[in-house]
Amino acid sequence: MLKYTYHPLKGLNTFGIEAYAREYIEVQSKESLLELFSKSKDKHLILGGGSNVLFRGDFDGMVIRMAMFGKKVTGTMPGKVLLEVSAGEDWDDIVAYCVNQGWGGLENLSLIPGQVGSSPIQNIGAYGVELKDHFHSLTAFDKEKKVFVVFDKKGCRFGYRNSYFKQEGKDRFVITSVTFSLDKKPVPQTSYGSLRSELDKAGIDNPEIKDVRQAVCSIRRNKLPDPDVLGNAGSFFKNPVVSMEVYLDLKKKFPGLVAFDDPKGKKLAAGWLIENAGWKGYRRGDAGVHDKQALVLVNHGKATGKEIIQLADDIQQSVLETYSIRLDPEVNII
Ligand code: FAD
Ligand code: EPU
Repeated sequence: MLKYTYHPLKGLNTFGIEAYAREYIEVQSKESLLELFSKSKDKHLILGGGSNVLFRGDFDGMVIRMAMFGKKVTGTMPGKVLLEVSAGEDWDDIVAYCVNQGWGGLENLSLIPGQVGSSPIQNIGAYGVELKDHFHSLTAFDKEKKVFVVFDKKGCRFGYRNSYFKQEGKDRFVITSVTFSLDKKPVPQTSYGSLRSELDKAGIDNPEIKDVRQAVCSIRRNKLPDPDVLGNAGSFFKNPVVSMEVYLDLKKKFPGLVAFDDPKGKKLAAGWLIENAGWKGYRRGDAGVHDKQALVLVNHGKATGKEIIQLADDIQQSVLETYSIRLDPEVNII
C-alpha cells in the first residue's frame, strides 16, 4: 500500500472539482483493508469512481480508493448465474461482460459511471431497472467490529436511491465485493418510455439484451454530459415522491407536470420542476444547469464545490417557492 500526502482529487471526481486530500491510499486486497483499519483511526473517505460525490473543499483526512479487482462465477441455480465481482471493477465493464456472456439483468444500467462496490450504496437505477432487481449479496468490512460480513438483499434494505448503507449503516462498512444473480434466459425490460421509443426508432420489436444495452447507451450519450468533457455527477437531486393528493393538486396548477407511478403515490420528474422554474441552461460563473437535462448540475471548468452547492441551494429554494416541494440531493456532499 503506497500512501501519498496532500494528494490532488480533481482527476478522481467526475465533477472535476479541484480539491486535495491530506492523505491518499489505494487498497488492493481485503488483507490490506484489515491492516489499514487495525492501525488507522484517521478521518477517512472511501472513494470509488468519484461520480456521486461533491467536494466542498479539501478533505482533511485519508481518502481510501478501492483498487480490488476480479470476478468469478460462484454458483449456478436453475436459470441463474451467480457472479461475484470485486469492488474496484468498473461498473460498465461488468455490464458489457455480462451482456457478452448472454447473462441478462444489468443491461438497462449500461454506461452508469463508477465502481461495482459503490453500486449498492444508492441502489443505482436507470431505464426501469434497479440494482436490487439482480442483486444476490455483498461482502463488506465492518469497521466497528473489524470483521468481514455478508449482507443478503433483505439486509441491504434497498429503496429508491437508498439503502441501509446510506442510513443506519452509513460510514460503517466498506463493500469489498458484490454478487449478482443473472438470467441465463434473459427477459429484456423495455417498459421505460424513452427506451421503448429508442428501440422503436431503430425498428427493433423483439430486442435482445445487446439491443437494450445499445439503446440505453445511445439515449444516455444524447442526454447526459460526458464527465470527461463537462464535469457533473449525474442527477444532482432525487425525484421527489409525493402522495396522490399532493400530485393531483400540483397537476391542477401545472398541467404539464411530468410524474411516474410509485407505490407511495407519484414520483415527480425533478428535471421538469427545475426546467419549468426557469433554470435549464442557467450559468453562474462556471457552475451551471445542463442545457439538455435540468436535473444535472455541471462544472464548466473552474467551479468550486461551494459554488455548485450555492447554485443547488438556490434551485432548491426556487422549487420550494414555486411548487412547495423540497428537493433532496442525490449527490454525496463531502
Ligand atoms: P463514488 O462517487 O466514489 O462514491 C459514492 C458514495 O459511495 C460515497 O459516499 C462513497 O464514500 C461511497 N462508496 C464508494 N465505494 C464504496 C465502497 N466500496 N464501500 C462503501 N462505500 C463506498 N446513478 C444512478 O443510480 N443512475 C444513473 O443513471 C446514473 N447516471 C449517472 C450519469 C453520470 C454522467 C454521472 C456522472 C453519474 C451518474 N449516476 C447515476 C451516479 C453515479 O454514477 C452512481 O451513484 C455510482 O454508483 C457511483 O459510483 P462511484 O464508484 O463513482 O461512487
Ligand atoms: N424532464 C424535463 N426537463 C428536463 C429533464 C427531464 O421536463 O430537463 C422530464 C421529461 O419529461 C422526461 C422526464 O422528466 O421525460 C424524465 O427524464 P429522464 O428520463 O431523463 O429521467 P430523470 O427522472 O430525469 C432518472 C434518474 C437518472 C436515470 C434516468 C433514466 C433520478 C434522480 N435520476 O432521471 O439517474 O438515468 O431516470 O432512468 O432518479 C442519476 O441518478 O444520477 C441518474 C442520471
